[in-house]
Amino acid sequence: MSHTTHPPLFSAAFKTDPYPTYAHFRDTQPVRRETLPDGRPLWLVTRYDDVIAAFKDPRLVKNPASAMPPEALSQLPRGREAFRVLSHHMLSSDPPDHTRLRRLVSRAFTPRYVEQMRPRVQAIADDLIDRMAEGNQGDLIEQLAFPLPITVISDMLGVPHEDRERFRTWSNIIVSVNPFEPQTFQSTADDLVAFTQYFRDLIAEKRARPTDDLTSELIHATDEGDALNEDELLSMMFLLLVAGHETTVNLIGNGTLALLTHPDQLAHLRADPTLIESAVEELLRYDGPVETSTMRWAAEDVQLGGATIPRGEAVLVVIASADRDPERFKRPEDLDITRAMNRHVAFGHGIHYCLGAPLARLEGQVAIGTLLQRFPDLRLDVRPEELQWRPGMLIRGLWHLPVRW
Ligand code: HEM
Repeated sequence: MSHTTHPPLFSAAFKTDPYPTYAHFRDTQPVRRETLPDGRPLWLVTRYDDVIAAFKDPRLVKNPASAMPPEALSQLPRGREAFRVLSHHMLSSDPPDHTRLRRLVSRAFTPRYVEQMRPRVQAIADDLIDRMAEGNQGDLIEQLAFPLPITVISDMLGVPHEDRERFRTWSNIIVSVNPFEPQTFQSTADDLVAFTQYFRDLIAEKRARPTDDLTSELIHATDEGDALNEDELLSMMFLLLVAGHETTVNLIGNGTLALLTHPDQLAHLRADPTLIESAVEELLRYDGPVETSTMRWAAEDVQLGGATIPRGEAVLVVIASADRDPERFKRPEDLDITRAMNRHVAFGHGIHYCLGAPLARLEGQVAIGTLLQRFPDLRLDVRPEELQWRPGMLIRGLWHLPVRW
């Protein structure tokens, strides 16, 4: 279904159900120029084929300095300065820096390496679900979806357990920044400074007393030569931590919600738990955690989907729209946990394809699989239309998911 009028982009009304708006965009102007409140343009790419082309296009770069002259660069909103120290990571770099940074950590995220973590991930999930089982109602985000991925990534990075709540507050604010409301940039600067200081202290601690974790390994790579400088090290940890828990939380949250609102699919999965892998792929496609890509910049004029994106302008690839494109997926509005040919783009595509995909899949399968097994009568404790979606463009996720069991 395609709507001709739509709520303002990324407003609360829009976030409740962005899919009809995206359908309208695909039908009318699939590569579409929007204007930010400060007058700067932002291009949205909404059809599956164009989304794949955009993800693969080396002219759509991550580093704005490669796409615009210094005068234009200095016009970018001031708040970005606070991000600068944390922005020397692979997701904001182009080759050759991107290649070097990604290679340094890719070993820790291969499917084989990640599979060895299954017993630990299962133990964390069991422990959280045991605690839920002491009651009969609660918030699934609070009790399972948030603590599972942050515990796993904090373990990998060697972040002390007692600091996790602080991370939640900071990173919630940081990923909720809305480019349509530039004032939100300024309000996050203090959080970023606090976040950065925390990492500096952690690095100093690990440098003095190395342990068996990814942070100590990365410090070793930094100290051994020019593989990684101090800002890149800080940025790498920031990226892994934020990417590692802001997203998987919402795979577990949005995924459980989709199952609870599609009782036939839920019953099918309960009847055949071996479908969990294919179910998680479908949950990623149907209502995935990442709504749009991160920002890219046209390094030259780029023709795409009948439009010309001029050099220097910003582009967002709309993952949530591509994954509902009827040109690519049969009956895209249906949730079908046995869907074949499910080549969704929930993890992106091309050189920035999600490094953590094997880990996210493992966490999603373990969390949702165990939850259904342990609570045979799990149900929503609120009407779906009462649920509140978090603001911002990048992330699609719920503040709370009240359930009963
Ligand atoms: C269901 C959970 C997840 C989803 C849906 C997801 C999605 C994505 C997407 C769409 C991108 C590409 C963004 C772009 O091109 O603009 C990305 C990149 C990335 N993700 Fe994930 N992610 C998830 C979990 C994780 C986890 C658990 C980690 C690590 C612990 C992680 C680490 C990364 C990193 C490091 C990148 C940047 C890769 C690069 O620039 O080469 N992600 N992710």
